[in-house]
Amino acid sequence: MTEAEFYTVYKGVWMAARTHPPESLKYFEEFSFRSDDIIIVTYPKSGTTWMQEIVPLIMSGGDPASVETLPNWQRVPWLELDLSSTLNLEQRPSPRMLATHCTYNIMPPSFFKAKPKVIYVTRNPKDVFTSSFHYYGMASYLVNPGPQREFLHKFLEGKVNFGSWFDHVKSWLNAEDKERIMYISYEEMIMDLKDSVSRIAQFLEKTLDAEVMEKIAELCLFKNMKLNKMSNYSKIPPEIMDQTKSEFLRKGVAGDWKNQLTVAEAECFDAVYKDKMKDVKYKFVWD
Ligand code: A3P
Repeated sequence: MTEAEFYTVYKGVWMAARTHPPESLKYFEEFSFRSDDIIIVTYPKSGTTWMQEIVPLIMSGGDPASVETLPNWQRVPWLELDLSSTLNLEQRPSPRMLATHCTYNIMPPSFFKAKPKVIYVTRNPKDVFTSSFHYYGMASYLVNPGPQREFLHKFLEGKVNFGSWFDHVKSWLNAEDKERIMYISYEEMIMDLKDSVSRIAQFLEKTLDAEVMEKIAELCLFKNMKLNKMSNYSKIPPEIMDQTKSEFLRKGVAGDWKNQLTVAEAECFDAVYKDKMKDVKYKFVWD
């Protein structure tokens, strides 16, 4: 099957058609945000699942009940995904925890009125590519990546799920109301998870004891999350995600691109990056 058969284009952004049917995109478009909502925003493979563990634990004051009983996609649902309209999000008490992979410019009108808090997670795009390459090979709702070189070009051109990484990151870096947005990178969380938990809690105006933050960081370590059936996607049938090909929680490290890309591919990536990001002043932690 080809890209044309796998993807739908919503306001110029490519999305997997199977998981984003027109009625789900309509639900997304008409979604009513509240100013006290907490929205986790990511380009896919940047640490979404990780944040879907951290934020509920912070909001529950370290009580693991929700991360132990609810799958991450119900705990912090993606608004544009087919499932979200079935979850009664309108009835959930505030503050609701929600997620999206959408770019800033295609957020629904209510988002710009309500101005909820956003946690935007970035990750070294070469690692996003590496993680995606393995993921596209195991997820049946995405186009098989084919040879790495071919997939690299598709990734750099944005012919993948949720479009161009460059457009995504730039859209959120250029967002208005930046005081409502916390930018944090996957690499910062790898470097110091306890400090990251503490900064996220501060942004969410949640006062937590040091021991509680320590406990949250411990629960959110890669090796521990891997064992959590509500976060490791083991509940998804192998016809949709074949984890014998590649586990969802695959390696959980920074810099794995060095094991994946050839020197020529890395140089090609860097050249495209330099051009596409030339106007971006933001200093990423992986730089
Ligand atoms: P890798 O494939 O490089 O291992 P997303 O949730 O946005 O789809 O991102 C998935 C990536 O985040 C995967 O990267 C996954 O292993 C990683 N990840 C998830 N939980 C993590 C954790 N607790 N610590 C480090 N990486 C984590």
